[in-house]
Amino acid sequence: MRYKNYVGGKWVPPSSGEYFDSLNPANKKSLGQFPKSSARDVLRAIDAAVDAYPAWKEVPAPRRGDILLNVAVLLKKDKERLARLMTLEMGKVLNEARGDVQEAIDTAEYMAGEGRRLFGQTTPSELQDKACMTIRVPIGVVAVITPWNFPIAIPAWKIMPALVCGNTVVFKPSSDTPLCAVEFVKILERAGVPKGVVNLIMGSGPQIGDVVMQSSKVRAISFTGNIDTGKYILSHAGLKRVGLEMGGKNPLIVMDDADLDLAVDGILWGGFGTTGQRCTAASRVIVHKKVQKKLEKMLLKRVRKLRLGNGLSPKTDLGPLVNEAALQKSLRYTEIGKREGAKLLCGGKVVEKLPGYYFAPTLFTNVKGSMRIAREEIFGPIVSLIPVHDFKEAIAVANGVEYGLSSSIYTKNIRSAFIAMREIEAGLTYVNSPTIGAEVHLPFGGVKSTGNGTREAGWTGIDEFSEIKTVYVDYSGKLQKAQGIE
Ligand code: UN1
Repeated sequence: MRYKNYVGGKWVPPSSGEYFDSLNPANKKSLGQFPKSSARDVLRAIDAAVDAYPAWKEVPAPRRGDILLNVAVLLKKDKERLARLMTLEMGKVLNEARGDVQEAIDTAEYMAGEGRRLFGQTTPSELQDKACMTIRVPIGVVAVITPWNFPIAIPAWKIMPALVCGNTVVFKPSSDTPLCAVEFVKILERAGVPKGVVNLIMGSGPQIGDVVMQSSKVRAISFTGNIDTGKYILSHAGLKRVGLEMGGKNPLIVMDDADLDLAVDGILWGGFGTTGQRCTAASRVIVHKKVQKKLEKMLLKRVRKLRLGNGLSPKTDLGPLVNEAALQKSLRYTEIGKREGAKLLCGGKVVEKLPGYYFAPTLFTNVKGSMRIAREEIFGPIVSLIPVHDFKEAIAVANGVEYGLSSSIYTKNIRSAFIAMREIEAGLTYVNSPTIGAEVHLPFGGVKSTGNGTREAGWTGIDEFSEIKTVYVDYSGKLQKAQGIE
């Protein structure tokens, strides 16, 4: 099956006539062929978004919200089918794929409601008979560049607020999940998003990205993905508004007063959920020395029981990694960890007997904060235990990386919890729950090298996709000067 780009409300083949395959990571079989778009295709998509913009921004925001509500309804009806396709295309277990679609439903509903808010502010003037306020206006054409690990949720996080604010969109999904993107855009089409308001362009990231960055017609770029691409975008996007979310090396602290059973549940879900392929994955467990041995034992027992397999089977706990490169990366980091002197407790190898890209869930212990496996994002089922002597050291180790997305602390001590909430350098801190599981009505994003200050989702999601305009209305009938000028 050959799929097409969606430009100006039409499904069109790429002008290059070239295609790439999307593979099922559980068995390496192709799910279809997708356009390798050329610069010409991208320029057409940008022009379609430019053409659609004037009419779309005139649609009252509550009416734009109505369309988003249709999106939510259609996603609900199609949830099971979409979740299955997602598992086929990127491997996560079906239950998590359902959660991914649900996240898009939640976002569509929340952002539909924004159509009736899009709040500005009003404030007094220093002069008589003068009104001061801010209103929100759209930015224009925005480019949305998304990863494969949340192939419907993350496009929804970006496209839903972009639309309700009145922007038009050029959407470039990851080449590992083009099918999910096509299905998502079909739903937008059925929901009544007008022609040209969302345009889907598939193919090589660098090639499409360069055209988008060079085009003066694109006013903003919202990107979630790896840090090198994010840095490249930031340095090449000129004066466009750029929103970046670039991963993490998220700490989960287990204090000596923690409920260890609860912590073990949290580490399994946070560290190995989605086979560790979340920006928010708990890849570092910072554990108080007093409970280190006990925690290791409890974890080993549970990790050994995790069942690898096809994500469609209800018996599966861990699906495959997304592709060969991801598999090689996990393998490479296992070797790095061993060379650095960390102790491998379990896993650390490719699972040959399964047909896809399977890597055994891996635990390292006696890891030092300075080791590469404790600092670099692996995006695989590899969790490093880092022993520390006290709370202060735990916080220092937590903060000793360049990333700052999510974080977590397990403790019964309210003082430690509150100090951690304040002191951990991260966009998100969870107390007595793992680093994953963000809800769509709250801001999501990171500090330090994780991003550039953008907070997606929730009320802040609107800030990323709107301009604030300040308006002064003088109804005094005379020239009044501010700053007390006579
Ligand atoms: C990501 O990994 O890129 O909090 C996003 C979570 C999900 C979103 C993760 N709701 O883990």
